[in-house]
Amino acid sequence: MENNNTRRNFLKQTAILSTGTIIGSSLFNTAFASENPLKLENQISELDTLDFQGNYSLPKLPYAYDALEPHIDKMTMEIHYSKHHQAYVTNLNKAIETLDKNLVEHSKSLESIFGKMSKFPEAIRNNGGGHYNHSLFWSLMKPNGGGTPKGKLGDAITATFGSFDEFKKQFSDASMKRFGSGWAWLVVQDGKLVIGSTPNQDNPLMSLRGKGLKGKPVLALDVWEHAYYLKNQNRRADYVASFWNVVNWDAAEALFNS
Ligand SMILES: [Fe+2]
Repeated sequence: MENNNTRRNFLKQTAILSTGTIIGSSLFNTAFASENPLKLENQISELDTLDFQGNYSLPKLPYAYDALEPHIDKMTMEIHYSKHHQAYVTNLNKAIETLDKNLVEHSKSLESIFGKMSKFPEAIRNNGGGHYNHSLFWSLMKPNGGGTPKGKLGDAITATFGSFDEFKKQFSDASMKRFGSGWAWLVVQDGKLVIGSTPNQDNPLMSLRGKGLKGKPVLALDVWEHAYYLKNQNRRADYVASFWNVVNWDAAEALFNS
């Protein structure tokens, strides 16, 4: 229970930090989010708290589609968010409808089902992962982001990898070496920072019979072609280089500290 609460708090905190504005318990000062000030916080935190009942919805972006220009272009952001992410949400809800009612009733949250992933069909794994990973990814970027992480995360990165530049090199290598579609991750595994990657929409929270990267996400990079093909075509390296200019280190720090 304590772990669930901790996780819930850091997802909320990440959502708050990604907006750059905190006013008491309400937030946001961007064109997108101001339409419904509490929406993002509610919807990001629902990843952890909402009963697993098939009523997931797309979280509000904490910035406009063109806010990450010139590093990530407007059209890519719009299609990535409104088409690709929306499809994961829609298909997750559809897949939940086909599940045994007992399984649904005994599942507390999206995060909780990742811990028993092998009990669920492929459609839940792919679309549940897709919804979770993208929700995290949006909050891990921001306009005028980049630079270097401060605080405990910055110290831990230097202590683990020798320098921030060496960390960037290893994370970029993991992004480049992921064959086909997938994600690169910085995770906390047994109290240590570890870089790795996962295929498709898998993530390090998923229990996959001992296979794959395991840990709590701190940083995530989508390396599916849909994340960069319109702007960079086949040049994944250019996209990875661009990512360093938009990283929301405050959000990563919040995940790390939780
Ligand atoms: Fe994606």
